[in-house]
Amino acid sequence: MKESAYVIAGASLAGAKAAETLRQEGFDGPLVLIGDETERPYERPPLSKDYLLGKADRETIYVHPQSWYAEHGVDLRLGARVTGVDAAANEITLADGSRVGYAKLLLTTGSSVRHLAVPGSDAEGVRYLRRASDSDQIKAAFAVASRVAVIGAGWIGLETAAAARAAGADVTILERGELPLLRLLGTEAAQVFAHLHRDHGVDLRFGVQVAEITGAGGQASGVRLADGTHIAADTIIVGIGITPNTQLADAAGLQVSNGIITSAQLRTSDPDIYAAGDVANAFHPLLGKHIRVEHWYNALHQPPAAARAMLGHDVAYDRVPYFYTDQYDLGMEYAGYVEPGGYDQVVFRGDVGRREFIAFWLSGGRVLAGMNVNIWDVNDTIKAIVHRGRTLDITRLANPDVPLDELLAA
Ligand SMILES: Cc1cc2nc3c(=O)[nH]c(=O)nc-3n(C[C@H](O)[C@H](O)[C@H](O)COP(=O)(O)OP(=O)(O)OC[C@H]3O[C@@H](n4cnc5c(N)ncnc54)[C@H](O)[C@@H]3O)c2cc1C
Ligand SMILES: NC(=O)c1ccc[n+]([C@@H]2O[C@H](COP(=O)([O-])OP(=O)(O)OC[C@H]3O[C@@H](n4cnc5c(N)ncnc54)[C@H](O)[C@@H]3O)[C@@H](O)[C@H]2O)c1
Repeated sequence: MKESAYVIAGASLAGAKAAETLRQEGFDGPLVLIGDETERPYERPPLSKDYLLGKADRETIYVHPQSWYAEHGVDLRLGARVTGVDAAANEITLADGSRVGYAKLLLTTGSSVRHLAVPGSDAEGVRYLRRASDSDQIKAAFAVASRVAVIGAGWIGLETAAAARAAGADVTILERGELPLLRLLGTEAAQVFAHLHRDHGVDLRFGVQVAEITGAGGQASGVRLADGTHIAADTIIVGIGITPNTQLADAAGLQVSNGIITSAQLRTSDPDIYAAGDVANAFHPLLGKHIRVEHWYNALHQPPAAARAMLGHDVAYDRVPYFYTDQYDLGMEYAGYVEPGGYDQVVFRGDVGRREFIAFWLSGGRVLAGMNVNIWDVNDTIKAIVHRGRTLDITRLANPDVPLDELLAA
C-alpha cells in the first residue's frame, strides 16, 4: 500500500460516513476501510427497534448498498481486525500479520458492551445487544419467551423491554439506580419513562443489586438479587452500558481519557491520526469542553468533519448533540448536553400526563437542552435555541401557545 493511503479502522456508521465524505470531497487516493465484523457497515438503532420488532428488513439497516464500496474505490476489508498502530512508521497491523501504511488514519472503533460480572452470567439465555446477529438472536428468543428479565434501565434495557412486551412476554426491569435514564435525563424527565413502562405492564425494580444468574445445566433460569429476591426468567437481557474501544489508541501512546482525546478537528495527539464516533472524546467549541457522545447522530455527522480535517480543510465539529428513541407509542428527540446535576430547572411545555410535551433543561435561565416527546418538527428550533444559548422568559417557554420560533427570535 502506498504511503498516500487513507485508512479507517472500524467499519460501522462512523467509518462508512468518513469514507463517503472523503470521496465526496474529491480524495482519489487509496482508501481502506477495515472492520472486524463480517457484515458491511450498518446502523445499530433499528436493532433494538423496528428490526427487532420484525417491522424492518435486514436490507434497511445498511449504510450503503454492497456495490457502493467498489463503485467508489473503497477497499472494504471485513472480518479483519486491526491489532496495532505503529505511529512512528505510519503503519497499522492486522490480525493476519499484514501491515498497511497510511498517510492519515481515522479510528472509528466505537464501543463494546460492558459485561455483567456475577456468578452464572455466562449461562445460555443471557444476552447482550450490540450487533445485528445479537438482534436476530434476541428476536428469536422473544418469540418463545414467556418471562424476560432486563438488567439495566438505560436505552438498551428500555427499548428491548418494549420489544419483549410487544412479543407478549412478561417483563421485569432490574436497575441499580433510582430511575431509568437518570444520569442523562435527571429525575423530572426520567419519571416519564418509568410511567411509560409501568403503563405497558412492565415490572420495574429500582435500587437493586444483581447478585447471581441462576440456572441449571448451563441454561439461565432467572436473576437473584442481593436481598435474596429471585426473578424467574427464560431470557435475560443485559444492557449495563458500554466502554469505548480505545485499545489501539492506548497501545499507540495516544492521549486517552474516557475515549480518545481529540481537538474540535477530531485530530488526536498524533497529527496523522484522527478519531470520531463513540470512541472519540472530542473538544466541543460550543460547550468549551471535551465530550464523548454515544449516539447515532454523532456517528453520522462527526466523521464527515474528521474526513474534511484529514484533507486539510478548516473545520470544527460543533453540532448540538442529539439523540432519539422509540418505545411503544412514544417517540422522542433530545438536543443539547447536560451533565448529571448540571441544570437547576426543568421547564415542561405541553401535556406530560398524555406524553405530548417538550421539556427544557436550564441553568441560570439558559436552555442547555430540550426534549420533544410525541411532538414533531420542533427539534431544529430546539437545537437553535440551545445553540444560541441566551436566557429566555420561562413563562413564555412553558406556554405552548407561544410559538418556539418567537422564543428563538426574541
Ligand atoms: C442496539 C442499539 C441501538 C441504538 N439505538 C440508538 C438510537 O436509537 N439513537 C441513538 O442516538 N443512538 C443509538 N445507538 C447508539 C449508536 O448506534 C452508536 O452511537 C453508534 O453505533 C456509534 O457508531 P460508531 O461507528 O462510532 O461505533 P460502532 O457502531 O461501535 O462501530 C465500531 C465498529 O468498529 C469495529 N471495531 C472495533 N475495534 C476494531 C478493530 N480493532 N479492528 C477492526 N474493527 C474494529 C467494531 O466491531 C464495530 O463494527 C444504539 C446502539 C445500539 C447498540
Ligand atoms: N435510543 C438511543 O439513543 C439508544 C438506544 C440503544 C442503545 N443506545 C446506546 O447503546 C449503548 C448501550 O446502552 P445501555 O442501555 O447498555 O447503556 P446506558 O448507559 O444507556 O444504560 C445502562 C444502565 O444500566 C444501569 N446499570 C449499570 N450496571 C448495572 C447493574 N450491574 N445492574 C443493574 N443496572 C445497572 C445503569 O444505571 C444505567 O441505567 C449506549 O451507548 C447507548 O447510548 C442508545
